[in-house]
Formats: sequence, structure tokens, C-alpha cells
Amino acid sequence: MAAPLDHTDDWWRAAAIYQVYVRSFADGDGDGTGDLAGVRARLPYLAELGIDAIWFNPWYLSPMADGGYDVADYRAIDPAFGTLAEAEKLISEARGLGIRTIVDIVPNHLSDQHAWFRAAVAAGPGSAERELFHFRPGRGENGELPPNNWPSQFSGETWTRVADGEWYLHLFTPEQPDLNWSHPVVRQEHEDVLRFWFERGAAGVRIDSAALCAKDPDLPDAAEDDTTPYVDRDELHDIYRSWRAVADEYNGVLIGELWVPDPDRFSRYLRPDELHTAFNFDFLARPWDAAELRASIDTTLAFHAPVGAPATWVLCNHDVTRTVTRYGRAEDTGFDFAKKRFGTPSDLVTGTRRARAAALLSLALPGSVYLFQGEELGLPEADIPLDRIQDPMHFRSLGVDPGRDGCRVPLPWRADAPHYGFGSEQEPWLPQPADWSAYAADRQAATEDSMLVLYREALRLRRTETGFGDGPLNWLPSAQDVLAFVRTGGLICVVNLSEEPVELPGHTRVLLTSGPLDDGGRLPQDTAAWLRS
Ligand code: NOJ
Repeated sequence: MAAPLDHTDDWWRAAAIYQVYVRSFADGDGDGTGDLAGVRARLPYLAELGIDAIWFNPWYLSPMADGGYDVADYRAIDPAFGTLAEAEKLISEARGLGIRTIVDIVPNHLSDQHAWFRAAVAAGPGSAERELFHFRPGRGENGELPPNNWPSQFSGETWTRVADGEWYLHLFTPEQPDLNWSHPVVRQEHEDVLRFWFERGAAGVRIDSAALCAKDPDLPDAAEDDTTPYVDRDELHDIYRSWRAVADEYNGVLIGELWVPDPDRFSRYLRPDELHTAFNFDFLARPWDAAELRASIDTTLAFHAPVGAPATWVLCNHDVTRTVTRYGRAEDTGFDFAKKRFGTPSDLVTGTRRARAAALLSLALPGSVYLFQGEELGLPEADIPLDRIQDPMHFRSLGVDPGRDGCRVPLPWRADAPHYGFGSEQEPWLPQPADWSAYAADRQAATEDSMLVLYREALRLRRTETGFGDGPLNWLPSAQDVLAFVRTGGLICVVNLSEEPVELPGHTRVLLTSGPLDDGGRLPQDTAAWLRS
């Protein structure tokens, strides 16, 4: 095995990070659910893809009320996925292949089955155990009304009443009680959990719902559209400064899941003694439109520069509509949770062409980039039959929102195997569409113009050629609806979002294109090229 990576370099400033949703990646024991054995068996695939790190969605003990974001024990692996010893092996095997591990820490809430919450419910009103959460008496004559009017991140109520009459706060489902982050024990526990995973070789931590942990201590009613009592509160910065001190002991990296639309407020979390990076959700919220994407790129870079943090580029993840489906729509090609509806038509040929171009665009931008498993296969969002949907977002929206299962479908590995070689002897936990053979990794590996071959080649170039990753970007003059920029060392990226083919800017070599050039050597609509000047 190769010598362990010591994490001391700034690898995270330019990394390509691959997101593994363990439940749906590969099933090693055949029970219908992906697991760590499945990931270990597929590490060579990830090494060949050419990624620098894996971010694992939560793999801890969990009743799975929200796909593992309801953690019952932050130091134990869910038995459906494997054991702690296996996670340690996985981390070290990946490291042997040059791949770092990022774990997902969920600080805003835990599972209602976590020992702390069970003790709090049992201990009753006024107890020290309840102080770790937000328990309050109700309003109304008999306390029958919730203590405040905060809306849930998942629609529906944010307060649930326990048998003794008190209510507890949960910004997500009732199975995910919010922790009280003004309590020192809550802070201490999470710092210990960070140490626990850094000591097991994790190179970084993705912080779930990072903007939500701190609450106005009075838990006041919020005016409509005013999220200040519970989103992006100033108290958070002190919390993440102490996380940074812990991370620095291990050269660990902190990555925030921050849905904070104001770029100035967002960048405050990335000051040198706070988080290293955060997901740039502005980019995936933008439609497939040159001016919009350019504005997002400019704003992102402008607000990251003063704090010295690298930008990140994300096209999709386990919460978001798959890229090819989103970009294949006639309108609303930018992502918006509020607009998710059943049956929105999508032209997957157009969507795939744009997703290929977007892949080259995002991989050429300054900073690090995240790929969600299956993105390299160009998977579309799947339609899940109503009786198989599992995501609480669907149920809490009273069936209006299809939920997030459509992007979480078990991966197709082999075109001709049962369940596309996912590994299950029985039906996988979510059904796979009947027409996914062409998406299977083995089929794509053998197909020259497949999405998988494009990603492999793009990631190979990104590692071997100069000019990628962190560093400056300069826009080049270009036709309307064309994005063209040059990176240090003369790496040019050009993306044509207009309806007409365009001439390529001056260059000495074409490194890669997302689709064929036309007969005149011009770049067609919805196509990207990487060039050497
Ligand atoms: C954000 C996660 O990405 C999402 O999947 C989860 O449901 C919520 N946070 C709550 O933990």
C-alpha cells in the first residue's frame, strides 16, 4: 500500500471530490442496500475515474427517517452499511489509492432515537437533559399551540408535543430534534466527534445544514420570509472557529453546507480561521444561460477572493434534481426546491449535451469541484412510483413535491446483470428504471463518446495539464451567449450557449471537447472545448 497522505498540502483548493451516497452506490452483501463492502469493491473504479477525495453521506447508526441525516450514534456505522472496522479499512484502502475521505457531520439535529433525546424525553420538563434541545411549553390556554411560528425546511410543522405536554423544535422531521447550540455540552460533544473521525483518517468534514445550528435564544416568532431567528446567525462563527482549531490539529478540512444566498454573508464563513470551503449553491440555482452563469462565476470569485478561500462548483447532489434532467427542461433549468413538481417534461438529449458542456465548464473553473455519484454516468432523474417513495420531503409536502429519491437511485454498473450489477440479490431499496442499460458503467467504459469516458478524460487532463484548479480566471472577448476564459498557463475554456456555431478562439491545440466540432471546426450549440493557447 502507498504511504499515507499526510493532508498537509492544500489539496482541497483544487480537488475533484466525488460524493458517495452509500445506500445507492454498490451493494456488497446483496440485501438491496448499498454498503461499505460495495464501496471497497469499487474503489478501483473511483481511482480510474481520477478523483481526489470521496465525501460520504452519513454512514452512522440511524433509523433512516431522513436517509441517515437522523443520527443515533455519531461514532457507530449503521449495520446496514457495515462496521466501524470496515470504515477504517475503507478509509485506509482509499488513501492507498490516493483518495482522501470526507465524512458528513450533522450538528443541527440528531435522531429521536439518539440516547440524548431519549433521556431528555424520559427526564421530563425542567431537566438538565432537556436543555440539550429546544423544549418549550406550548402557547394557547392549555399549551396546545406550538411555541412559535417557524416554518420547516421540509414544509409542515417544526414543533412536536411529547406526552408530558412540552414541545420540542425540529427544523426538519419530528425524528430530527434540533440541538441547543448555546449549550457547552453540545459544543464539546461535536468537537469530540470531529476528533474521533480525524483520528480514523478522515481528511475532511462536510458540515450538514451548517447555517442553521444557532437560534435566537428567545425563539421568537418570525415575520414572513424572515429567517433571521434561525438561519445564518452571527453566533455560528464562534462555533466554527473552535471547529477550525480542532481541524487544524489534524490538517483536516471543513466544508460547509451553507444555503446562504447573500454572497457577502456566505463568504464570512470562509474567513481564514473558519471553514476552508463551502458548497457554492448559487451556481446550480442558475439556469442554462450564459449571462446568468457568468454572473454567478463573477460573484463567486469576487466574494471568495478577499477571504482567500477557493471557490467550489457543484452541479448536483443527493438533494437536487439530476443535471441532465434539469438542463433538458424548456424552462426552470436552474435548481429551486420550491419548484419541484411531478411530470415536468425534459428533453434528455438536450440535457445531456448541456450537462457534458457544464462538466467541462465546472472542471475548468478556479477552485474545487464536486461530482455526485452517477453524474459521471449522465444519469437522469428517475421517476419513482408513488408507492416506493421514501423521502420525507415528499410526504411532508403532502405529496406535492416528488422528493429527492429520483436522484438517489442505485447505480447501474453492468448493463446485462440483474439490477444492473448493483449487487442486490433482491429488489434494491429504490427501483431502477427499466431503460437504464445504456447508462451502465461497463457499457459506457466501452463507448468512446459516453459521459463516463468524457469525465475520465477531463479529470485526467485536469490532473496532468497546467492551469486547472485554484488561481485566476480572465474572460476573453466572445460572441453573445458564449463563455470564454483563460487560466494561468494558457488553458482556455469556451462554452457555446448560443443557438449558432461559433469560431474557436485562437489556440495551438484542442485538448478536449464535450461534443464534436462542426465541419468548419466551429463549436456547436451547447458544447464546450478546452484549448491550449
Ligand atoms: C441537508 C442534507 O443534504 C439533506 O439531505 C438533509 O435532509 C438535511 N440537510 C437535513 O439533515
